[in-house]
Amino acid sequence: MGMGCNMYDTFALERWQSLRDYKAKYNLSESGIEPPSLKDLGGLPDLELGYGNTQGSPELRKQISSLYHAPFTEENILVTNGGAEANFLTVHSLVEPGDRVAVQMPNYMQTVGILRGLGAKIDYMWLKGEQFQFDERSLDSIRSGTKAVFITNPNNPTGSVLGERELHQVVGAAEEAGAHIVCDEVYRGAELDSRPLKSIVELYQKGIATSSLSKVYGLPGLRTGWIAATKDVVVRSWGLKDYTTISPSVVSQKIAVGVLKRQEQFVSRAKEICRRNTDLFWSVRGAEDAFVKRPQKAAPFLFVKTRNIAQTSEYCERLFNETGVLINPGECFEMPGYVRIWLGGSREEWMTDAFTRLIDYTLHYERKSVPSPLQD
Ligand SMILES: Cc1ncc(COP(=O)(O)O)c(C=O)c1O
Repeated sequence: MGMGCNMYDTFALERWQSLRDYKAKYNLSESGIEPPSLKDLGGLPDLELGYGNTQGSPELRKQISSLYHAPFTEENILVTNGGAEANFLTVHSLVEPGDRVAVQMPNYMQTVGILRGLGAKIDYMWLKGEQFQFDERSLDSIRSGTKAVFITNPNNPTGSVLGERELHQVVGAAEEAGAHIVCDEVYRGAELDSRPLKSIVELYQKGIATSSLSKVYGLPGLRTGWIAATKDVVVRSWGLKDYTTISPSVVSQKIAVGVLKRQEQFVSRAKEICRRNTDLFWSVRGAEDAFVKRPQKAAPFLFVKTRNIAQTSEYCERLFNETGVLINPGECFEMPGYVRIWLGGSREEWMTDAFTRLIDYTLHYERKSVPSPLQD
């Protein structure tokens, strides 16, 4: 697509969406719970529109710190512009060119893109099999000299989850290597299971959690994210933030405080929507003939294998052009043959309509040899 800058390759997933989502009739490429409106949240507060505290307001940082069962105060939190900035700052504050890192795959591909751009030496820790399970053998990637381990839990795109036992195994390996673990936890709370999922900062002193209000809370428009970590990591990332966005929006932060006061309500809404739409998708006629069914553990999307389509980017492009339904091809995650389908919508009729169009088209899809849009 030729959009890469000198340092970073094209971020395939974001470009795929940015070029199409505003034109889609049925946008199933989203990745969060359907957003509530500002009115639903009680409207806008009156406040002075200054920069505010550049590390985030003490009020919001305190509120965020209470999400973790760790001895955290506001000094352990840096408020960022989305999880995207949290990841960007974390990578740049930990990793230098030539450093060795281990990265769980597949994933959202932001940190990988940055790490590749930085010239880090990357060992890939692939989730295994049709269920994308944790593979103990992948722990061999964490060895003496590994500076940091990057995981996403719950995982985007697979929706799989590392439970406490598996997280302990990763922690054990990281501890031995002296490595940090950076865990992107934007989907924490979107597990279908109701048991709370441990944060990495609750299990490991050198654990760093990045997160945001974009997915489970359904509020990407606030651009409110954060880093939760030991004070030294927070201070280093804060110093870097002077070069990126200086401070987070004071308006968004005020709204975010109100949202986090109702945290449980948002989390149960997310779980409910994920459960309902998972069932809805598989109840549509032909769903299991079009895609390979697998159990869903978490997240407002399905990551499923197509039956016979090798070039999923070509299929997704044609699906979009011919029906207006937009989904994400597995190529965005370096996994051709798979697709990611959004499950976060709150309007049942609309979701049924979108799923039906997608499934009907897929069942009748005939491959034509046209060049893949992600290959040029
Ligand atoms: C795993 C993961 N991390 C981070 C982000 C960035 O989200 P935001 O900056 O809106 O918080 C995304 C967005 O899709 C994501 O899927």
